[in-house]
Amino acid sequence: MSDVAAPSSPATLDVAAVRAQFAYLDRPEGIVYLDSGASAQKPRPVLDAMHEFGGLHFANVHRGVHRLAVEADTAYNAARARIAAFVGSTPRETIITKSVTEAINLVAHSWAAQNVGAGDEIVISQMEHHANLVPWQQLCRRVGATLRYLEVDEQGRIDLDQLDGFLAGGRVKLVAIAHVSNVLGTRNPVEEVVRRAHAQGARVLVDGAQAVPQQPVDVGALGADFYGWTGHKLYGPTGIGVLHVRAELLADMPPFLTGGDMINIVDFHETSFATGVQRFEAGTPPIIEAVGLAAACDWVDAVGGMAAIHAHEEAITAYALDRLGAMDGIRLVGPRDAAERGALTAFVVDGVHPHDVAEIVARREVCVRAGQHCAEPLHRAIGIPATTRASYAAHTTREEIDALADALAEAQRIFG
Ligand SMILES: Cc1ncc(COP(=O)(O)O)c(C=O)c1O
Repeated sequence: MSDVAAPSSPATLDVAAVRAQFAYLDRPEGIVYLDSGASAQKPRPVLDAMHEFGGLHFANVHRGVHRLAVEADTAYNAARARIAAFVGSTPRETIITKSVTEAINLVAHSWAAQNVGAGDEIVISQMEHHANLVPWQQLCRRVGATLRYLEVDEQGRIDLDQLDGFLAGGRVKLVAIAHVSNVLGTRNPVEEVVRRAHAQGARVLVDGAQAVPQQPVDVGALGADFYGWTGHKLYGPTGIGVLHVRAELLADMPPFLTGGDMINIVDFHETSFATGVQRFEAGTPPIIEAVGLAAACDWVDAVGGMAAIHAHEEAITAYALDRLGAMDGIRLVGPRDAAERGALTAFVVDGVHPHDVAEIVARREVCVRAGQHCAEPLHRAIGIPATTRASYAAHTTREEIDALADALAEAQRIFG
């Protein structure tokens, strides 16, 4: 896979038509939502699909025989297939979780607990979200393994030579890395990471939380052993995440959570487990949410597809980099070329704390996020205590970036 598929003739996004599908844009305040990196707004067709399924076809899934149970089973299975196909995977390699955080914990408590031991190493990068850092820190502590960090340079990039150096030591069992950083915006060369890690016998987990909502991703072609992402950033509901696991690894992985739905036979002292993805879906799964996430995949395709959304967001990001980069007293972090990054810009306004920045721009209904964005070690590594982050989506316009720039100028005026 190339990181971003280059379609021969990408459809153009009709941004006005996209915007017409978001109810929050009908509010009288004129909200400028630049916080999609934290969670995306939900278009009407996604909400309608959940409403219709929840009202007309809902029952619990798995083994019910009445009409509604059969309809719910059919819908849940179809949703898994749709979600898998959206990123080039298959239903038998697609586990439904509650979030990407749970997906990564599943790998840490299942595959890694069985395959990483004392003296082994796990490699992650300094730019990881806590979701792809804390589980590995805890695992290493439990089993006596060592956690190694790929450093981030001043342009926000990792160094593949450093990765090779770690791999050459022969102890690396897993490389776990973000596809797109949620602070720097860096799009990591995950294809190359997979190639190099596999050549040395290491497995690779990719955290696709920020990538799947903004660029075409082909999990099958990428060949990572584990690829996780989260529904609520792809215009879908909260409460659902996805973990793709290569079939040959999945077959040998022990369960993570245990209980109903993931079993074969349960006796008073022994239990045998279900095979396949069901072994990792203990308890009632997020059924309505799966239907909603499948509808979000349909919605993306209906408005022109991920390649069109990506092209639009790249243009918006380029505009934001130019507009904010031209302002005195604003320092952007991460790569300066929009083609190398995801659809977000984090920055520092000299002399103004990011929380004050966020509060002042919020007075103009501009919604951004301030703080460390669940990436505290990264902020320590780049020597910046906190940043303000604006993140973009299919509905973002240049006028909204202008509104952000004007609001930032206001913050600068207020703080002298
Ligand atoms: C890169 C990255 N990884 C993981 C997560 C965690 O996502 P969730 O809270 O849905 O598990 C996020 C959310 O911001 C993220 O940006």
